[in-house]
Amino acid sequence: MDSIHIRGGNALFGETKIQGSKNAVLPILAAALLIEDVCVLENCPRISDVHHMLMLLERIGCRVARSDRTITVDARNVSEDTVSGENVTGMRSSIMLLGAMLGRVGEITMAYPGGCVIGERPIDLHLSALGRMGVKIYEDEGCFTAKAQKLEGSVISLPISSVGVTENVILAAVRAKGVTVLQNAAKEPEIGALCEFLREAGAVIEGIGGSVLIIQGGHELHGVRFRIPADRIVAGTYLMGVLGAGGHIFLEDAPVAQMQSTLRAAELAGAEINVSRDGLSVMIDVEKRAVPMIKTEVYPGFPTDMQSLLMAALTTAPGVSVIEETVFENRFRIVEQLRKMGACIELQGKRQAVIVGVDLLLGCEVTADELRGGAALVIAGCMAEGETIVKNRHFIERGYEDICRDFQNLGVNIYTG
Ligand code: EPZ
Repeated sequence: MDSIHIRGGNALFGETKIQGSKNAVLPILAAALLIEDVCVLENCPRISDVHHMLMLLERIGCRVARSDRTITVDARNVSEDTVSGENVTGMRSSIMLLGAMLGRVGEITMAYPGGCVIGERPIDLHLSALGRMGVKIYEDEGCFTAKAQKLEGSVISLPISSVGVTENVILAAVRAKGVTVLQNAAKEPEIGALCEFLREAGAVIEGIGGSVLIIQGGHELHGVRFRIPADRIVAGTYLMGVLGAGGHIFLEDAPVAQMQSTLRAAELAGAEINVSRDGLSVMIDVEKRAVPMIKTEVYPGFPTDMQSLLMAALTTAPGVSVIEETVFENRFRIVEQLRKMGACIELQGKRQAVIVGVDLLLGCEVTADELRGGAALVIAGCMAEGETIVKNRHFIERGYEDICRDFQNLGVNIYTG
């Protein structure tokens, strides 16, 4: 069965180590394509999105080896310029191969990456930004070919601080002729990790961490050994688990500096947070409380990926909480499943959810249809009286190495079905 079973209703106690970041390792794997050498990546999460990305890299001609959480990518013989098949339409991160393949071989043909239930996930801004660098797009029945005789550095100003577009421009710009200035760049920590990786490989990038990046193209790139940073959203998931169910946990390796807005939200809801050198101690020993308004925003604002996780935790917070989703147009799908468990949530249009705290959630069978919503249902299962069965575990496995193992470490009665 493709499910997770949770017998909830007890507080969380214990500690668990936070895995490497999905949204950092995926663009860095794409960046390894740019380097005609061997790269070694440590602390890579064992998740299905990484498995798919490795399959894509091998299709393109990379030699890939994996030993536990260390991945070696040898991109010296990259040849094919076509990435196709279900691997591409099945996930978003394949779009990141666009910039890397243009930087490496000057051309790529791929299917339009599938959208997902949280939003249409268009790629118009990717194509227009790369167009500024001399990339031409040829469309053909669900596929497109992007080609650049010679990538040219350019001044590019993004209408929205898109994470993926920022990553694709960086990946193309490091091998372009001349300097690229990217304005209104996304500032998510995963962008910083990508830039640090490329800098260690010999790229010249200024403004890392800010909204204006200056990339000097054409510098020789060499192989590097690089450690993938811990996953701030996975750490935030377990933080919301203890906010929801109560207790006292320790999250080893939690990237606290990247979680400030998430920690603030948890403290507003009653969490007592203590930061130590190697992680994060969180406890809920006072009455959890509603949060009058939380709005998702680009970094360093409250992350959209944390939205459904916080919502689950607030379903039993006394009072009225309001969450506003400003990044994706369809990211409240989980509301219907939480209502099945007894949550009282009203939607105001597609962008605002009003959560009225109830005394108790009751376990039942619920269905995940995307990654973070699925994790939110697991949190709700930890909180609920009785047994919860979360169906479609495979969505959760896209981003979590082993959510059952981690919650078992925190004392939850949980197992895969
Ligand atoms: C990245 O997606 C993350 N994925 C997402 O995490 C995360 O939710 C998102 O950034 C926002 O932080 C990875 O890093 C693999 P965007 P991305 O481009 O790059 C619109 C998870 O749970 N847009 O910043 O696709 C878009 O529709 C996943 O780990 C266009 O309109 O996000 C959205 O409304 C979910 N046209 C907004 O921009 C475009 O060409 C922000 O999206 C591109 C984006």
